[in-house]
Amino acid sequence: MPGTLSAIPISSKDTNLRTAAVIPAAGRGVRLGPGAPKALRTLGGVPILVHAVRAMARARAVQVIVVVAPPEGAADVRALLDAHGLPESTDISVVPGGESRQESVRLGLAALPDDVDVVLVHDAARPLVPVETVESVVEAVRSGAPAVVPGLPMADTVKSVDSATGVVTGTPDRSLLRAVQTPQGFDRATLGKAHATVTRDVTDDASMVEQLGVPVLVVPGHEEAFKVTRPLDLVLAEAVLARRRATDGY
Ligand code: C5P
Repeated sequence: MPGTLSAIPISSKDTNLRTAAVIPAAGRGVRLGPGAPKALRTLGGVPILVHAVRAMARARAVQVIVVVAPPEGAADVRALLDAHGLPESTDISVVPGGESRQESVRLGLAALPDDVDVVLVHDAARPLVPVETVESVVEAVRSGAPAVVPGLPMADTVKSVDSATGVVTGTPDRSLLRAVQTPQGFDRATLGKAHATVTRDVTDDASMVEQLGVPVLVVPGHEEAFKVTRPLDLVLAEAVLARRRATDGY
């Protein structure tokens, strides 16, 4: 009955709108020490960036991927991805990035096709995020949350410190803290507005949305979604990958 149907709200599930993942990979990753940019270091013989792209492509919910490459390196990154054979069912493009992570994400957003209504932003430096984590972030956005981050309880006690003197200024209640990871998921319009209006330096996209006063939902993260930042993280990532290859034919 047409009258009944028109009363049902049209959610994006009823349309052909797609979910995209923007992967900022334009940083040099100096904390890993000298050598190739972090995203091009290898894990199990495969560049970290390729692992990150595969992690997004493996999620059925993700149909579009935009990789943000170092400003002068877009052609090289495209060649690298092509050389590693990625799934043809995912629409993958590469664009040049900017000076800051924020600018790189903004340039990635600008390259998204019109038919994308949900956007994930995923650090290239988190190559081993499990597919279940990616799917649960998309699902929470599709269920109505404008912004979603995966997060884990803190193992360490965290202190704020006066950076000039090194003296502790406070100890936030650990049970109220979460260490947040990526992919962070957003309603596209909300993330676009955040990037158009927030200019203060930030380390993740959700904090820009928080500055708009929009609620950000935390869903369970995963310990294997850690960021490869320091040399020890490479050792851990190799071990996780070796275990997956041995047990899941990964
Ligand atoms: O430096 P950090 O580890 O926080 O970087 C997080 C992500 O942002 C990395 O994947 C890095 O490649 C990316 N990034 C970027 N453009 C920059 C700086 C960092 O895409 N100018």
